[in-house]
Amino acid sequence: MEKKAFHLANGSTLSLSQDFILPDDNRPVLSNLCPLLSIPVINMKDSVPVLVKKISQACEEYGFFQIINHGIPSELCQKMVDSVTDFFSLPPVERALLFTDDKTKPLRVSNYYLKVEGKERVAMWSETLAHPWHPVDDLSHLLPQNRPHYREIAPEYAKEIGSLMSQLLSLISMGLGLEKDFLQKSLGQNPRLVSQSNFYPPCPDPELTLGLPTHTDLNALTVLLQSQGVSGLQAIKNGEWIAVDPVPNALVVNLGDQIQVLSNGRYKSVHHRAVTNKDSHRVSIAMFYGPNKDIIIGPIEDLIDEQHPPIYRKYRYGEFLEEFHRQEGTRRKVKEMFELKY
Ligand code: OGA
Ligand code: NI
Repeated sequence: MEKKAFHLANGSTLSLSQDFILPDDNRPVLSNLCPLLSIPVINMKDSVPVLVKKISQACEEYGFFQIINHGIPSELCQKMVDSVTDFFSLPPVERALLFTDDKTKPLRVSNYYLKVEGKERVAMWSETLAHPWHPVDDLSHLLPQNRPHYREIAPEYAKEIGSLMSQLLSLISMGLGLEKDFLQKSLGQNPRLVSQSNFYPPCPDPELTLGLPTHTDLNALTVLLQSQGVSGLQAIKNGEWIAVDPVPNALVVNLGDQIQVLSNGRYKSVHHRAVTNKDSHRVSIAMFYGPNKDIIIGPIEDLIDEQHPPIYRKYRYGEFLEEFHRQEGTRRKVKEMFELKY
C-alpha cells in the first residue's frame, strides 16, 4: 500500500499537482525545526500533587504534553491504529459513500483544504473520518457499516478515553486552583464528543504539502493517539515549530480554545499542524471533548480579579462553532472574535 497512489474519497488522487502544492508562504520548512525543545512527557503514575503541578506547567508553557502509564492498554491502542488503517484501505468508492462537506453530518469522511489567493483551494495531503464517540454503549449507528473490526474496537477505545478525559479535566481544574469537577461541570452534562481519525499517505516531497493546516483545536481538550515511529505532528513554541514525535505507548494531550477562554488565557490552546513524510503512511486518532452548543462559555469568575480582568466575553458555544465554520479554509482567528477590547 505504501507507495501506490492514494485515491481520495472525493474522487481526486493525491499527486504533486497544483491541487495539492501549497504557495511558498504556506509551505513547511522542515529543516527549521527547533531541535532543543520538546513537549513534556508526564508519567500518570506520579502522585496527584506532582501531576497537578507538572500538568499545570505544561498547560501554561506549551498547551501540549504527552502522557505515559495512562492506563489504556497498548494492545487496544495498536488495534485502534490498525482498524483506522484498515478503514482507509477500503476502496475509494466505499469511503466515498461517507464523503461529505456537510459539517452537520454525524458520520463523515472529508478532506481538509486551505483557501489561497488566486486559487479556489489547495487540498491537504490526507483524509479524515469523523463521528461522535458518545454514547459509548451504542455507537453502532454512527460507525461505518462495512468495517467490523473498527466497529468492535472504536467503542472499547472510546470508553477508555472517557475515563481518561475525566481524570485529565480534574487534574487541570486543580491546577487552576478550582474544585476537581469544576471544568467538567462548566463544560456541561452532555459534552460534544467527536473523534477524528486522520490518514496521511506518504508524500514524494513533504516540503510542498501539508497533512493538516496550522490550527488550534476549537474544543476544550484533545487526546491524540499516533502511529508509533512516524513523525508528523508539530506545535509552535516561542514562535518556532517543534516536533511532537511519538513516544512509545504515549498519548498526546492538548488544550483546545475553550480551556484557553475558561482559564482567561492562563492555559494555552496552541497552534499546531501535521506535516507529511516520504517513507510511510501515518495515522492519528484525535478524540475531542467540548461543550455542547447551548453551553455558555466565558472566563471562570474565580479566576478574575483586578490584576486579571476578563479577556473574553461570554458566548454560547453554538456561536463559537458558527464563527469557526465561517472561517473554514483560512488561518482561523475564532477566539479572537470573542476578545474584550478595553
Ligand atoms: C487534529 C490534529 C494532528 C495529527 O486532528 O486536530 O491536530 O498529528 N491532528 O494528526
Ligand atoms: Ni488539532
